[in-house]
Amino acid sequence: MWPLCKTRPVARTAEPMTHKDTPDVADLETTTELLALARTGLSEAAWDFIVGGAETETTLLRNRRSLDAIAFRPRVLRDVEGAEPRASFLGAEQRLPALLAPLASMTDIHPDGALPVARAAARFGCPVMLSSVSEPDYEAAARAAGEQFHFQLYADGDESWVLDTAKKAVDLGCRSVCVTVDVPTFGRRERHLHRRQAIAGRPFGGLRRGEANRGRAHWSLIDRLKSRLDVPLIVKGIQTAEDAALALEHGVDVIYVSNHGGRQLDHCVGAIDVLPEVLLAVRGKAEVIVDGGFMRGTDILKAVARGAAMVGLGRLQALALGAAGEEGVYRMLEIVEQELRVTMKLLGANRCEELDGTFLQPVAPVTPPGPLSAFPLL
Ligand SMILES: Cc1cc2nc3c(=O)[nH]c(=O)nc-3n(C[C@H](O)[C@H](O)[C@H](O)COP(=O)(O)O)c2cc1C
Repeated sequence: MWPLCKTRPVARTAEPMTHKDTPDVADLETTTELLALARTGLSEAAWDFIVGGAETETTLLRNRRSLDAIAFRPRVLRDVEGAEPRASFLGAEQRLPALLAPLASMTDIHPDGALPVARAAARFGCPVMLSSVSEPDYEAAARAAGEQFHFQLYADGDESWVLDTAKKAVDLGCRSVCVTVDVPTFGRRERHLHRRQAIAGRPFGGLRRGEANRGRAHWSLIDRLKSRLDVPLIVKGIQTAEDAALALEHGVDVIYVSNHGGRQLDHCVGAIDVLPEVLLAVRGKAEVIVDGGFMRGTDILKAVARGAAMVGLGRLQALALGAAGEEGVYRMLEIVEQELRVTMKLLGANRCEELDGTFLQPVAPVTPPGPLSAFPLL
């Protein structure tokens, strides 16, 4: 049955449509339909693991609220027939101003973990950051991702372990190394704590080997990585102008503004609201990317207009994976591309570079924020 309709959809051709118990993912028209599939297919524990945040989930809600507090100021009569949402990141042209954010514990969402995501990213042409704690193993996924492989690293060992692990990823062909710095300890995600369940083989309340080292990481580790690696270095989890300035001093190439999708420190500001102070501190000396709450093409273009080079997709990717594996992630990217193209035409912009703050205006949000408030028809 089609996820949102009890009746069959209207045939688009003269041929009558054949009945299907499960929709062909390529025929899904919206990400809402994909998410509806994920909701029926995923266990309650997996669903909560994906959508949940830390403690009161205020950071998670603010990510959405901040996006909803920005309205567009569209321009007209600008010949937008050839509008394309292409972007530039790390010196290369990208099909979308979006990347697949790093996700751990993906075997709780799909039996093949990160592999289907990597395959979808390679087929579509979208950068994918594979987490050093990807399940079952990031190496097979890295090979599947090919040129789209970026490596996200947690400091799950001493300095020599971190350097060796990063070097191994560079040897596997990663385009950048991204160190995630906002997990010195795990945020208290109550949806998970109440279940008292293991995630991806990690015993409930326990740690994987090396995880205790994350809290000891310091800027000196960034210096070491910068001096040893010959690929761009990204630091993920920056939330202040002060740390953005420090990242620049330590030679970081890309500043990744993120509050980990509200899964770590509660009571932070919405991720998109951190962009202005970070961009001011960086003054064009590094690329700035962002994630947190981005679910739609309109969300992504708000960040682009604010000055972000790329936007990371976390939960949207996880739910698309849970809905239909590789095909689900691929279709999600296609739909997001369609949303971006339509929004650009409606905004009066042919290229992402044309978007700036003059296309945006602060407003009072009309939607109460929620992990899935971007999908009111769900
Ligand atoms: C299930 C899940 C697993 C995650 N695992 C990682 C990880 O291994 N490394 C990391 O840097 N961030 C991880 N994150 C955070 C995402 O990379 C990203 O920052 C966040 O999901 C963005 O917010 P969004 O989900 O609202 O898009 C994870 C997020 C989720 C939802």
